[in-house]
Amino acid sequence: MAPIKHTLFLVSGVSSFIIFYMGIVNYLSATDKSNGMILLIFSILVAAGTLLSTVYISRSITKPIEKLAHNMREFSKTNKLSKKNPIKTNVQEIFELNENFETMGEQVEQTIEVQNEYVEKLKEMDRKKLEFSSMVSHELKTPLVPILGYVQMLQNKDLLGGLNEKQMEAVDEIHASTVKLQRLVGDILTTQKLDLGKLDFTVEKISFAELFNSIIKEFTPITNEKNINLELQFEGDIEIQSDSDRINQVFSNLIKNAIDFVPKNSGKITIGATDSDKSLECFVQDNGVGISEINQKDIFKKFYQIDTSTSRKRSGSGLGLAICKGIIEGLGGKIWVESIEGKGTKFYFTIPKKIVRSTIKKDSN
Ligand SMILES: Nc1ncnc2c1ncn2[C@@H]1O[C@H](COP(=O)(O)OP(=O)(O)O)[C@@H](O)[C@H]1O
Ligand SMILES: [Mg+2]
Repeated sequence: MAPIKHTLFLVSGVSSFIIFYMGIVNYLSATDKSNGMILLIFSILVAAGTLLSTVYISRSITKPIEKLAHNMREFSKTNKLSKKNPIKTNVQEIFELNENFETMGEQVEQTIEVQNEYVEKLKEMDRKKLEFSSMVSHELKTPLVPILGYVQMLQNKDLLGGLNEKQMEAVDEIHASTVKLQRLVGDILTTQKLDLGKLDFTVEKISFAELFNSIIKEFTPITNEKNINLELQFEGDIEIQSDSDRINQVFSNLIKNAIDFVPKNSGKITIGATDSDKSLECFVQDNGVGISEINQKDIFKKFYQIDTSTSRKRSGSGLGLAICKGIIEGLGGKIWVESIEGKGTKFYFTIPKKIVRSTIKKDSN
């Protein structure tokens, strides 16, 4: 595509040359040289006039069109009218074109402004809703502490006297359900804090050998009871600066899931970590039912649970992996999964050895 300016100069240049050429030819072939000279001068004047008028047309038409095209290009990029490039023109059509463009641009600007205001209002509303539900969850959590305390006192015959077998069964049931409820409310609170960017991280020196020791100690009774082989693949020690409780929470969530999905009596869960320059790469692997490729994309979303017969039998809120993702990303790492259906699943996550400060959001209250 050629600019209009080039076309104009090409046409007028060729025309001027032809007029000038004809003037010369006429002069050379003329018998009356004075007549030929008059015609030659006339052709020179016409050729020069053509060129000058081309310059004038170019200035008054192509220049403002070029500016308008530039303004439109800028507008399409920024959605803001360019004030730097005002267009002055005596050509009515260009003047109207520019006026229409500016009116349209102002309307688009206003629409975008209104849209942005709505988006801000929606964000604010969403935030208030989240803060409100966070407060509700907090209020739900508070009475659970004395409930659990009194139930535990009832379970201890030395404190409130003995209960008969039926009463003890009922109290045990209350205890188990209260613990479940407390966990659920805790998970909801953590998720809400993550959404609000208010999850607190404590930075401290962590020995991974100690961390793994306590995890293995915590889960051995359950894995022994379920006949699951829980193995640690980690030698020596690695010390990092991060949040030990939160890392423990991630391992616990992943191990609890693995426990639910490994086969009865031949279940195997391996946990471990390897040093990789500025971060640690940790994993939790199982030989369970596996996760299909389609579901692998969604399992880190809040409340997402795969609807299989195994999943349906187990309880859960679908928040565990969303929390793991929030924590790991908050600590500056990444989490991902590799899985083959029917063979098993391996969750990986990285933890920077030094916490990236910008990712830590302090609780404001
Ligand atoms: N190790 C695993 N093996 C197979 N499926 C898993 C495993 N871990 C998680 N999943 C699937 O991902 C879903 C989401 O897990 P999670 O967020 O921890 O929620 P929940 O455990 O409350 O169901 C689970 O419901 C389960 O279907
Ligand atoms: Mg879970």
